[in-house]
Amino acid sequence: MSFSNFKVQAPSNIALIKYWGKKENQIPQNPSLSMTLSKSVTINDFKVKSGHGELDFSFNEKVSNQFSSKIENLFLMLKKKYPILNEYHFTVQSMNTFPHSSGIASSASSMAAFSYGILSFLNQLKVLSTDVLVETSYFARLGSGSACRSVYGPFVEWGITSNDYAKTVLNHTSLNQLRDSIFIVSDQPKKISSSKGHQLMNTNPFAKVRYERANHKVIKVAELLKTGDWETLGPMIEAEALELHGLMLMGDSPFFLIEPETIKLINYIQNYREKTKAQIYFTLDAGPNVHLLYPQTFDQEVKEISKLFLSEGWIKSVIHDHAGDGVKYL
Ligand code: PMV
Repeated sequence: MSFSNFKVQAPSNIALIKYWGKKENQIPQNPSLSMTLSKSVTINDFKVKSGHGELDFSFNEKVSNQFSSKIENLFLMLKKKYPILNEYHFTVQSMNTFPHSSGIASSASSMAAFSYGILSFLNQLKVLSTDVLVETSYFARLGSGSACRSVYGPFVEWGITSNDYAKTVLNHTSLNQLRDSIFIVSDQPKKISSSKGHQLMNTNPFAKVRYERANHKVIKVAELLKTGDWETLGPMIEAEALELHGLMLMGDSPFFLIEPETIKLINYIQNYREKTKAQIYFTLDAGPNVHLLYPQTFDQEVKEISKLFLSEGWIKSVIHDHAGDGVKYL
């Protein structure tokens, strides 16, 4: 007998100020702040029947997939706190609206979608002692740190108010639809996982100064989001992206994730801005792909730039996304 069939979705997010370095239990070494995406989402189809705490999770119809072990661990943590889950059998079919391995933070949307599905179900059973979104953010964080920010939108901080879960920050209405066009330089899996990157921060000689700087930066960025001062925010976001990649180059086990095309696009955008005054800025995640952030007034300019980069074969594809809300019950 089927008890409940429902669907949820959770978006990916792009950090403006990055989380890089963590303590035990996914507690960040510094606060971070991100923009939630709109079109790049994970959709989870839940089927719940009576059982004994089983979970059949598949991603793109594959039972064995890159998320299986993280999802299993997350489910164990959820069952520990909510033993009532042992009375049910969950079948979860998961899929992404963005290409597999496109370099978009897919574990963030995946962990947020799974947590939201289970916690929405528990909410219907009226067994949650806290708000369903706060609890979703808490558990999403245990799945993958940055996932806690995917619960809300359009702009979200983690580590200013609490290290346990994320919270929305206010923004000026002019930034509600801020664009993120993701130029896919490589669709190959990352050379170094973010878990490894976080771990290397433990021996990074610049870690202390980095964490102090990040603390100042999130406060400043949160203020600028409120006033909507994009011309001051843009350069800060770019510098932060290069600081993240700079950290990767320091220490005893340096590594770099950028590719020649990453630099080509960065140079192009900086020259283009200089020439045209178009307020288009870039950020990078822990990979070679370039996120162009800009107000919607520059849609046409970015379409032209993407046409050029695609026709020259410098990039594989482009995803035109924009700021959006967090998790949704479909
Ligand atoms: O959530 P994780 O463990 O995949 O780490 C994310 C790290 C960055 O994407 C580089 C930065 C961030 O804050 O999202």
